[in-house]
Amino acid sequence: MTEDTPATRSPLKLGILISGRGSNMIAIHNSIREGRLPGVEIAIVISNTASACGLAVCRELGLPTEVFLSKGRPRAEHDADVAACLRRHNVDLVVLAGYMRLLSPEFIHAFHNRIVNIHPSLLPAFPGLDAQHQAFDYGVKVAGCTVHFVDEHLDHGPIILQRAIPILDTDDADSLSARILKEEHIAYSEAIARIASGNYEFLGRRYVRRAS
Ligand code: GRF
Repeated sequence: MTEDTPATRSPLKLGILISGRGSNMIAIHNSIREGRLPGVEIAIVISNTASACGLAVCRELGLPTEVFLSKGRPRAEHDADVAACLRRHNVDLVVLAGYMRLLSPEFIHAFHNRIVNIHPSLLPAFPGLDAQHQAFDYGVKVAGCTVHFVDEHLDHGPIILQRAIPILDTDDADSLSARILKEEHIAYSEAIARIASGNYEFLGRRYVRRAS
């Protein structure tokens, strides 16, 4: 493994960062358990809030967890604790799964091209909060989700994959969010599988798969 690329180390150890219900984290866990992510394991799940529902799920699933409360702490100081924990667990790939906290430049630099995020819109459309509602209110006819590497700008780094769905006339913002979430649960595991394969390169900001 080089400092910049997480892949080709087996097992590929994930550090998953959550703040809430953790349904994407559970979907990744299920993919591993069902053999759809061979050579990938969850080394640690980290939450920045003690009340994240995903933590209780981790306990049921037997996944290791750590909590580093972020409220009121300087970002760089909190992130340094998280980074140290990820290193203790030999994490290769940091997976943001509903982590509601911006990362410090130091953290992003320390895990350059080794942090991925899922966002519930077809980026670059509708970055930021409530992306599904933004898309619905705008009246677009196609919505979806994006898995991307994380850089220093919000919802911005190289895109690994996107899954698109039509917006139906019968949709409301909630039904659309639910249908996007189903796509997220497929997309995140697929993106992690692609990273685990190591079979990719960057052309500028374009992530491309190498011909095998
Ligand atoms: C998802 O919609 C994800 O795209 C966004 O935050 C939400 C997290 O949901 N970044 P969950 O905690 O994984 O259920």
